[in-house]
Amino acid sequence: MINKVIKLNDNLINQIAAGEVVDNPSSVLKELIENSIDAKSKSIDIYIENGGKKSILINDDGHGMHEKDLVNAFERFATSKIENQKDLENICTLGFRGEALPSIASVSQILIKSKYKSNTGHQLNIEGGKLVNSKPDSIDKGTSILVKNLFYNVPARLKFLKKRQ
Ligand SMILES: Nc1ncnc2c1ncn2[C@@H]1O[C@H](COP(=O)(O)OP(=O)(O)O)[C@@H](O)[C@H]1O
Ligand SMILES: [Mg+2]
Repeated sequence: MINKVIKLNDNLINQIAAGEVVDNPSSVLKELIENSIDAKSKSIDIYIENGGKKSILINDDGHGMHEKDLVNAFERFATSKIENQKDLENICTLGFRGEALPSIASVSQILIKSKYKSNTGHQLNIEGGKLVNSKPDSIDKGTSILVKNLFYNVPARLKFLKKRQ
């Protein structure tokens, strides 16, 4: 124990939150499907490898995200679903806490592509919560998110996940 009160850094906070939001591949899947439904998708394609432990790919045809929103979506407590207390009393979406994407991103490797209206699509690469690449993408519609190697950077959780296979 460090006998000193310190403020945890954002990535550590996200990793701790990840333990509450996601504890296995199916909870990642649930969060991502809820996001696709909230984005008014009509069709959602899902591909998994090794029970989702190696990879989960979700393609939707929802309203997608603008480049700026795509980056913001990975900030903790960033959501497009509520703005004020009144909205909190009238929730009609499946998510609203803005915790899923930063939590999942902090414990995996993510490639996300999205296109909003007639804008050019955009893609981000995020590894262990760190943005490693951001560039235009030719995605046609909606959002595609690939989540690889869940808990690759949290050895204790990875061990637990492997044990349960
Ligand atoms: N598949 C998607 N299509 C469009 N927008 C999305 C999608 N997934 C996430 N988003 C955007 O990213 C934001 C953050 O998502 P998330 O971390 O799950 O928080 P929440 O769903 O609680 O708002 C959402 O509010 C939404 O604006
Ligand atoms: Mg959500």
